[in-house]
Parts: sequence; C-alpha cells; structure tokens
Amino acid sequence: MLRIVQYPHPALRYESRPVTNIDDRLRTAVRAMFDLMYDAHGIGLAANQVAIPLQFFVLNLTADPEQPEAEQVFINPEIIKRHSADDYEEGCLSFPGIYAKIRRPRKVRVRAFDLSGNEVIVDADELYSRALQHETDHLHGKLYIDLFEPNLRTALNPKIAEVEAGFRASQERGEFPSDDEIRRQLDAWPEFGPVA
Ligand code: NI
Repeated sequence: MLRIVQYPHPALRYESRPVTNIDDRLRTAVRAMFDLMYDAHGIGLAANQVAIPLQFFVLNLTADPEQPEAEQVFINPEIIKRHSADDYEEGCLSFPGIYAKIRRPRKVRVRAFDLSGNEVIVDADELYSRALQHETDHLHGKLYIDLFEPNLRTALNPKIAEVEAGFRASQERGEFPSDDEIRRQLDAWPEFGPVA
C-alpha cells in the first residue's frame, strides 16, 4: 500500500531514477498518488514521497478530485529555462503544517513526458511554476526546507523537529524499517518496496 512519507524518510533525500517504461504498474501508482494527494488536500505529489524512486510526479492545481481534467502527470521532468525570481508561499505534504515564503525563479519552462509517452513542454508562472519546481526538486532529493532563509529556518526548526519526531515514532512502532533498510529497498525497487 502506498502512503505519503514524512521527513526524514530516506526516500525524500533519494536521487530518483528516470522512468524507462510507462506500464500498468506506473499507471496504477499514478492513480493511487492522485487519490492520496486529494485526501491530503495537496496540489502536487512526487513519486519518492510515496517511496517510489522514479522520476515522476502528479499535479492538480485545483486540488479538487471533481476536476480530473486538471490532472497532469510529469515523467522525467527537466527544467530547461528559468526567468527572474520572486517569493511565494510553499507547503509540502511531507512536512504537514509548515508553510513558508521561498525565493525561486518566477517562470520556468519544463520538458517532460506525459502518461502516453508524449513529450510535453510547458511554460509556467505563479503557482504552476512553483509546483513544477518544488516537485522536480523532490525527484532529486531536494526539499523546500533547503531553501529557507537562515532566520526562517531557525524559526521553523521546532516544527521541523516535530515532523521528524513523528516519523521516528512511526519507525519505532514498526511501520517503517530502519533508514538503511529503506535505502536498500529503494536501491532494489521494484523487487522490493511498495506496490500501489
Ligand atoms: Ni513537497
């Protein structure tokens, strides 16, 4: 069963591998990820946030399951252009309750593949641009907390520590194996690890 993992689950610092095959297993994982994302009221979810070490993410900027026409899947995404910069508030389903203004490029151009295997190129601004950058970062083990200004990081450290304690407690309860074992499973995926 897939579930959204919280910091510092090792999948969140894992460099995901490119998708080489768009198969039923991937499509099933995509559907499950949309459902998990809606349950958590999110607008984006990266595969490694459900401990799948592959380069894809799902997005629905409306966060509304009644608007499936707004669903997008980005496979092997690459940011090929960045333009200017601004501050914009971000949250992350792997850091529940932690929102912060973060400086990033304002506009981006992203090249990716969709679920049919077609190449897509999108130019994005505002929330869309943010989400694409945030989710693409995930796939390379990068997190928005890495971009917090030092003062903000200090202010939010207690909240981050709470999230961390939550994950460690679930590990203690046996819901997750040790960090080393999780990394072994990610290395060995798809032989081990969650299936949708
Ligand atoms: Ni996130």
